Amino acid sequence: MKKLIITIFGSTGDLTSRKLLPALSKLFVEKQIPEETLIIALGRKEYDTDSYLKQMKHNSASDLDSDILKKLVKYLKLDITDLKQYKPLVDLIQEHKDSKTRELYYLAIGPELFPIVSTNINASSLVEMGNKNQSIIFEKPFGHDLKSAKEINEMLWSCFDEKQIYRIDHYLGKEMIQNIMMVRFANRIFEDIWHNRTIKNVKIIAKETDGVLGRAGYYDTSGALKDMVQSHLLQMLSLIAMDVPLSYFSEDVKNEKVQVLKHLSFDKDLMLCGQYDGYLEEDNIPNDSKTETFVFLKTFVNTPRFKGVPFYLMTGKKLDQKESVIIIEFEETNEQRKWDLPLSTNKLYIKIAPLDGVGLILNSKVPGLRDDVETVELEYCIACNAVGNMSEAYEKLLLDIHNHHKTLFTRWDEIEYAWHFIEQVDKDKKDPIKYKNFEALEEEILNMTGEKMK
Ligand code: BG6
Repeated sequence: MKKLIITIFGSTGDLTSRKLLPALSKLFVEKQIPEETLIIALGRKEYDTDSYLKQMKHNSASDLDSDILKKLVKYLKLDITDLKQYKPLVDLIQEHKDSKTRELYYLAIGPELFPIVSTNINASSLVEMGNKNQSIIFEKPFGHDLKSAKEINEMLWSCFDEKQIYRIDHYLGKEMIQNIMMVRFANRIFEDIWHNRTIKNVKIIAKETDGVLGRAGYYDTSGALKDMVQSHLLQMLSLIAMDVPLSYFSEDVKNEKVQVLKHLSFDKDLMLCGQYDGYLEEDNIPNDSKTETFVFLKTFVNTPRFKGVPFYLMTGKKLDQKESVIIIEFEETNEQRKWDLPLSTNKLYIKIAPLDGVGLILNSKVPGLRDDVETVELEYCIACNAVGNMSEAYEKLLLDIHNHHKTLFTRWDEIEYAWHFIEQVDKDKKDPIKYKNFEALEEEILNMTGEKMK
């Protein structure tokens, strides 16, 4: 395997300690990345490599293996906004690389820093336009609205070739989200009924129990709509609603996803925003903030396949449980309607978290002499069956970047149309209602739509 050098800009943040370093050490232990891997961690703080790793271990939620990381990581103190300080970084990379080295530049920083850091990377000649051994990776959020996203993107295109750019939406690396196309297109029983004649509605839900944690500054300018719906929920929606792609190559899949994003609309009277009780008391949140920490939306995908089918999107913080799930509810059969029996509609659950898997709700006769019916679930729990083999989203994403696989990364037009839609919704957003728990929100949604979000 070629040598690998990964340079992390913003290496003292949460993302590096909680996601990137654990993922990279696991890939290293499993020999998925080269023996000769160097991780250069850049930051402004006064650390040497040892004290940096100690701090990262302290910050990380998982058990970071310091012995492994000591082999891989080198901390370099550097102000990434100051081009004059780039020389030691350029020298360090030059010392380590040969003509075949794979180089990844990971921008684990806020979007406001993308332009200056990209310009510095370019001006210091760290990355050469079009060099296919060099890739540059951007974390979400990609901009804070359509205008800023466009500006960032134009600037990126002036420095790098699109083939070198990887825009991360970590939901795409989750096992069950990678599995959506397989479940849909490689199973006759689903592929034939995946349209508005048989699907009654789709619910796309991402609930969290945590609050804003240490990200108040960012979160308060964003809110649930821009933080979660613009990226993760719309990505899930586009995979569920897309038409059959010409092929399963990255570009063809993205062409179909974009068609979904281009044809979205929403019902402005069926939107609910909430703010959790205690949000205004969080550190660094202005005490008159109107930022929503919960959002519910009724959307439509106006394509021949899905016209008229409601897609309910719901996400929020400080809710009853951590759960991400997509629920596809099917129309009743004629017999189901005719029989006077307590039958349920069929539902397909695509379970993303906490345990990845698939569930199918069916009607069945109660076994034995009684004539009663019951609702049963056929369940396939991927996570339970794959003990030890489940990979974290970031492992898969980093490995795919290393191997030049672009399917799980967002193309510019996906982001563009997603922002376009979110801006329309944002204009009609109402002030959030306060919520103490999920039950009150659930009740409100039930009153508004007649739908239970489960
Ligand atoms: C991030 C959001 O993209 O996703 C966070 O910025 C959110 O606010 C997180 O908590 C949720 O990700 P996951 O993988 O824990 O569902």
